[in-house]
Amino acid sequence: MNVLFATPECAPFVKTGGLGDVSAALPPALARLGADVRVLMPAYGDMRLAGELVATWSLPAAGDWPAAQLLQVHRSGSPALLLLSCPGLYARGGSPYGDAGGQDFADNARRFGLLSRVAALLGTTASPCGWRADVVHANDWPCGLAPLFLRQAREATGAPVAAGVLTVHNLAFQGLFPLAACEALGVAPAHRGIDGLEFWGQGSMLKAGLQFADAITTVSPRYAHEIQTEAEGFGLDGVLRAQAPRLQGILNGIDTAVWDPATDALITERYGIGRLEAKAVNKTALQAACGLAPRRDRPLFGHVGRLTGQKGVDLIAAGADALVRGGAQLVVLGSGEPALQAALSEAAARHPTHIHVHLGFDETLAHQIVAGADAFLMPSRFEPCGLTQMYSQAYGTPPVVTPVGGLADTVTDALSGGGGFVMAGATQQAFDDAVARALSLWAQPRRWRAIQRAGMARDFGWDAPARAYLDVYQRVAQEMGMGLAP
Ligand code: ADP
Ligand code: GLC
Repeated sequence: MNVLFATPECAPFVKTGGLGDVSAALPPALARLGADVRVLMPAYGDMRLAGELVATWSLPAAGDWPAAQLLQVHRSGSPALLLLSCPGLYARGGSPYGDAGGQDFADNARRFGLLSRVAALLGTTASPCGWRADVVHANDWPCGLAPLFLRQAREATGAPVAAGVLTVHNLAFQGLFPLAACEALGVAPAHRGIDGLEFWGQGSMLKAGLQFADAITTVSPRYAHEIQTEAEGFGLDGVLRAQAPRLQGILNGIDTAVWDPATDALITERYGIGRLEAKAVNKTALQAACGLAPRRDRPLFGHVGRLTGQKGVDLIAAGADALVRGGAQLVVLGSGEPALQAALSEAAARHPTHIHVHLGFDETLAHQIVAGADAFLMPSRFEPCGLTQMYSQAYGTPPVVTPVGGLADTVTDALSGGGGFVMAGATQQAFDDAVARALSLWAQPRRWRAIQRAGMARDFGWDAPARAYLDVYQRVAQEMGMGLAP
């Protein structure tokens, strides 16, 4: 089974969130199960690349598409990386999606249109690199046009064409662009309407993926149901209900080579379920690094993530004073919406020895917070899966979460013997209540230990999810008449 995993980001080279982690961990897990996997992503300007360049292929200019190159990079222990090099489109500062000020690049349809086009090309007999995918696994809106291009290739030729699988990591981001760009992108006129990629007068890369993929997955089972409702469907719930027979949720895993407190090189003191007392060393180090009062007798809450409404960061900011009044400390790492950054910074200014806010992206500090905090805050309004609540459980740092999406699928409340605190809903009252509950249980060390152990005992590995993806690949490949061995 040849699988092309197409993605706009992959850790540790480029990462803005969970998709970077998934792209780093799922392909090797698939390879361990016997799949021949390649990871395709753009060659961004400032990418830190570890690996050996083993082959290069030229992709000539075609129509409105610029010339590009495909670079194959060998990485030890991970599937080969195929980098799509087109400096005019990808070699610029900022994030994969926008400039340093957070503004989306105006030519994203073209940038990710090319990524999708090359992903689809690798699933046809015209593949330039002597290897052809049986399944093209497209991730999120930046790869959304790939299933459409595969469909068009199928319509145009009698030769075999790969099946297309789309994974939705976040329905809130859809990749909208002016319909007038369809011509230059090579979207056939028949697919430009409401049964194709048209979405309220614009083109939608995500809708293209949803309409033309042979299978659609979301990153948790609960999210697969939620997005079929008007409340959570971001205008695409009707499309998703129509596609329900092809839609399923597969829970993300966590990469235990990167996120395991027993081996984590980024934290001060390593520990495990049988040596939980050593976790306290990480708390003391974190308090010192963040300029907080060095109090072992105060519970320390942590948060790491994008500072957005999705993540319920406003609840954290508004609940910060009560948290300090309740005797706790708080460390937040993240960047995002200016108003939320300001609200958190103001809370830190009010309580300098009890609240520390670090604005920015810092992989090392993220590990140190997950290890050093006593409890983790993740009151998301919606959460397709969420990884940090799984990381924090693996680190004996019980998460406080809302009962939504992947949070509901991965956190069981302490009241039911689980390793976290599930809020009654995404409200301030529910947040304050759950924090108060965590505070009172933290003060009862035996009960707290039991909650920590319940979280640490869970298996969040990638093995089972990777098997579920292979089943999906196998099914769609069979439907396409490929009859492949697993
Ligand atoms: P999402 O993908 O919605 O942002 P996830 O929980 O799936 O949320 O994944 C977030 C990932 O990004 C985690 O690995 C988390 O540690 C990391 N992360 C988010 N913000 C930061 C930050 N400011 N610094 C370091 N890592 C971060
Ligand atoms: C998205 C979602 C997050 C998920 C991640 C990886 O960024 O917001 O919930 O964990 O993708 O699938």
